Amino acid sequence: MPAVLDDVAAEILDLKKSRGATILAHYYQEGEVQELADITGDSLKLAREATKVETPVIVFCGVLFMAETAKMLNPAKKVLLPDLRAGCSLVDSCPPDKLFRYQEMLRENGRKFQTVTYINSSAKVKALSDWVVTSGNAEDVVRNRVPADCEILFVPDQHLGRYLQQTTGRQMILWNGSCMVHEIFSVHDLLKQKRQHPGAIVMAHPECPANVLENTDVIAGTEAMIQFVGKQTSPTTFIVATEPNMLWQLQNRFPQHTYLPVPGITCSCNKCPHMALNTLEKIRDCLRDGTPEIHWQPEFDKAREVLTRSLLNPPPAVKAPAGD
Ligand code: 13P
Ligand code: SF4
Repeated sequence: MPAVLDDVAAEILDLKKSRGATILAHYYQEGEVQELADITGDSLKLAREATKVETPVIVFCGVLFMAETAKMLNPAKKVLLPDLRAGCSLVDSCPPDKLFRYQEMLRENGRKFQTVTYINSSAKVKALSDWVVTSGNAEDVVRNRVPADCEILFVPDQHLGRYLQQTTGRQMILWNGSCMVHEIFSVHDLLKQKRQHPGAIVMAHPECPANVLENTDVIAGTEAMIQFVGKQTSPTTFIVATEPNMLWQLQNRFPQHTYLPVPGITCSCNKCPHMALNTLEKIRDCLRDGTPEIHWQPEFDKAREVLTRSLLNPPPAVKAPAGD
């Protein structure tokens, strides 16, 4: 880390102590941010960890929907997001009024359905949903919690939805949203990398389009990628189709392997521009000033109910019949 950033990092650590803060960081944050965090994780782990924070302040290094989720699941905490403009293309693709009208239209047409919503969505959209899922629990919720006699309206990520249709066999009405980062991987370059590294294992996030997933060995969210790589005993080359900061986390934990990012079609690094807004300087400033803060919004009440039953209350284990 350059000396000037070293100074900022030292300031952050001092402020963290004096303000009573816990720093949570998503795996898509820059390595220097993940390095400073108390907890790193995927969306599901960070949402669950937010409920266990004991300090009065949470600094959420991620995007707005993640910081809102932390606030909804632990309302007594002051939740800070270093840059409030850190949005998400999936959130933008699903305006709540448009979703509401679509649900009304389905109801008027006599369709019996439940709305399963990817956590990458606004709080208003969550409040209109039956379930909120992440890449880490989506399959479980679709398989085990949505009644078999209901259709599924899956919003907003069409690619994750299509992948879930294939893995669970449940038919879905898919919203037309996508992640601007995962949408633009170059399949041409991926195929070239596969030819250049014949023994490599390709891992891709289920937010990737079908043409990437078709050329993938392991389809997994970020936490599941860590679990998978952790099980590989001999040094392996991984070609990784997800936000490239994920490679920092993999390299840090399992340096014995080699990781190659898949380039995007427009540039060699397709980092998430929203995640990139959280710089060390902004983290320091938000700790020092106690702002920007996530304030409670009226829709948080309903969205909190949906989040709680979806992410924190696993269904009761099914008892084996007597004699088994
Ligand atoms: P996960 O954290 O579930 O892997 O999702 C990745 C993502 O795109 C977060 O914005
Ligand atoms: Fe949204 Fe994609 Fe960025 Fe995740 S990586 S925050 S899904 S735009």
